[in-house]
Amino acid sequence: MEKRLIGKVALVTGSSGVIGPAIVRRLAAEGAVVAATDRSLETARAVADEAAASGGEVRAFALDVTDAAQVDSAFAAVEAGLGPVDILVNNAGFVRKSSDPFQLVEEELWSRILDVNLGGVIRCCRRVLGGMIARRYGKIINLGSIAGVSGLPGWADYAASKGGVIAFSKTIAMEAGAHGVTVNCVSPGMIGVESGENRGTWLGRSGTGEDVAGVIAFLASPEADYITGCNYMVDGGRVVGPKNASWNE
Ligand SMILES: NC(=O)c1ccc[n+]([C@@H]2O[C@H](COP(=O)([O-])OP(=O)(O)OC[C@H]3O[C@@H](n4cnc5c(N)ncnc54)[C@H](O)[C@@H]3O)[C@@H](O)[C@H]2O)c1
Repeated sequence: MEKRLIGKVALVTGSSGVIGPAIVRRLAAEGAVVAATDRSLETARAVADEAAASGGEVRAFALDVTDAAQVDSAFAAVEAGLGPVDILVNNAGFVRKSSDPFQLVEEELWSRILDVNLGGVIRCCRRVLGGMIARRYGKIINLGSIAGVSGLPGWADYAASKGGVIAFSKTIAMEAGAHGVTVNCVSPGMIGVESGENRGTWLGRSGTGEDVAGVIAFLASPEADYITGCNYMVDGGRVVGPKNASWNE
């Protein structure tokens, strides 16, 4: 594999789960020193150990993105242990298991979804931006969702959080661009569904964590130096147009 990220320090939030481990593995495989973070140090450690076993330099840190004090202390620990953060991947996310018409969703639940998915991105970006701007280098990649573009009936709060992430990212891209910092979104759709299941993509399959991680690694690399404020769909074409409409069944 091409090593486009040698000498860079990357921090990934929410690095266990479906997509996170693939991001950690890919950034490490491309030569970055990676801080794999998660709410629980144990789950972050499992991801770090697995990535390190295949040759990457990965360290685990506890980081709950809803806890402002812990965001600050975890970034400080990463900076002290690995060096300044060059690449930030805001991957932590939370979605309700069951769909519900929004009028039935309790305030505690929808506000938690906004707090993790949007508040977490805002907190981590805010923590890292000053240093990136001072060093005139930074790549921020935020996980949006096709829900944040198209909407998703039954998950209005989740869709709102991801739409917020996309709008926030575009704005920070405008603010930080002149200081050498790029900010982009990657918006997955239908990742990690049972293998073989298609569910409306145009490529005849659902996506994998590796499909998402490859685009993130590209955006973190010098090849994407002139790209900022973009939102890359990684969804097998799901939002391109209707699948299974009568004219294409
Ligand atoms: N899987 C998909 O099809 C899909 C589609 C669109 C968008 N996404 C987005 O991609 C990202 C990763 O998705 P996934 O499928 O791997 O999700 P997942 O639920 O499998 O994993 C989410 C990760 O976030 C972590 N997390 C949750 N709350 C946290 C908190 N308060 N602080 C820190 N970490 C926290 C979890 O521990 C876990 O490691 C998310 O932002 C998600 O919204 C995924």
